[in-house]
Amino acid sequence: MKIQIINGPNLNLLGVREKSIYGNTDFDTYLNDLRHRYPAVEIDYYQSNVEGEIINKIHEVGFTSDGIVINAGAYTHTSIAIADAIAAIKSPVIEVHISNVYKREEFRHHSMLAASCKGVIAGFGMDSYRLAVENLINV
Ligand code: DQA
Repeated sequence: MKIQIINGPNLNLLGVREKSIYGNTDFDTYLNDLRHRYPAVEIDYYQSNVEGEIINKIHEVGFTSDGIVINAGAYTHTSIAIADAIAAIKSPVIEVHISNVYKREEFRHHSMLAASCKGVIAGFGMDSYRLAVENLINV
């Protein structure tokens, strides 16, 4: 089984960026733990700060991957183009957020992507990614 995790803008700074919101762990450390937890699953990881690169990755893996877990960062709230890419592919996509976006500024309450996704997980810290991976494994 193959699962692709895609992180969008500013998520390369996890562990450095606004720690009170996003925590102290960098993504590579978290990913290492996740891979050890599910040794039978191939978990691939891609991060980009560039909208078009995220779209290219969705196209690249979207017909072969067993599932995609995407945290599109702020593009979640703005990107019709990423929403269209998710709608165009075959693999199920789960939208995740580390923070509980509904407790935050109003502009974070709306997702352009959610309607094209299988589901949304938000507010569980880094554990949001594990919950999404677990859903893709168990279905
Ligand atoms: C985020 C929430 C977004 O609103 C924000 O722009 C991010 C991170 C989260 O994981 O909580 O960059 O997607």
